Amino acid sequence: MNKELRKAVIAGNWKMNKTPLETAELINELKPLVKDADCDVVVCVPYVDLQTALYCAENTNIKVAAQNCHWETSGAYTGEISTTMLKEMGVEYVVTGHSERRTYFGDTDITVQKRTRAALDAGMTVILCIGEYLEQREQNITFEVVSMQTKIALEGVKEEELDRVIIAYEPVWAIGTGKTATAEQANEVNKFIRELIAELYSPEAADKFVVQYGGSMNAQNAEELLAQPDVDGGLIGGASLKVADFATIVKAASK
Ligand code: PGA
Repeated sequence: MNKELRKAVIAGNWKMNKTPLETAELINELKPLVKDADCDVVVCVPYVDLQTALYCAENTNIKVAAQNCHWETSGAYTGEISTTMLKEMGVEYVVTGHSERRTYFGDTDITVQKRTRAALDAGMTVILCIGEYLEQREQNITFEVVSMQTKIALEGVKEEELDRVIIAYEPVWAIGTGKTATAEQANEVNKFIRELIAELYSPEAADKFVVQYGGSMNAQNAEELLAQPDVDGGLIGGASLKVADFATIVKAASK
């Protein structure tokens, strides 16, 4: 498989952190540190920070993502945000299926599929999160889980749309726990996902397809993880809130 065919994507998932004022501060500090990055740099910010993030990131190489979206374009869905709204603001990226959405807010494989479809229909790029719980890894069903999540989420997605899909493999047991998957564990599942893309679409599509790793990636372990042949970047939570650490990870991905 050809890593040269893929540009790494480093995305910071801020989760429910940072106010609009803090957003401006963080992005303004980040800008000069990542301006020469040889990878794509994305910040996934809370809805209320999107406008500020877009404003601060204008004319830079930093891209802005929402952390979720609804599947309908409008309607009686109190508290939800549609891709039409995001697009009109100028948001080009959106995260779907994050394990925190699945665990705490009732997202299922089917709703993740619908959100992913809506984002693609709106012309956005999706960072689709998948990954197993600790119990599933211990039962040796990681590949089954990851395969099912991928197949359901990508149902109906055409090969020509795949350049707007990034999969973030995030073992749930590694998220926010400080317990990173080893570089080998991360690569093993990322490779499996790429092979699945080859099977569902084509080997050419798989060669170009970006598969990130996420789960306690930080300034210390990023280099080793990102050096793996099938790890094409990272979705970074905690460490993305510290400008210097995030910039270090971006640097590691630019090698
Ligand atoms: P973490 O979060 O880096 O804090 O483990 C990753 C994520 O949830 O995307």
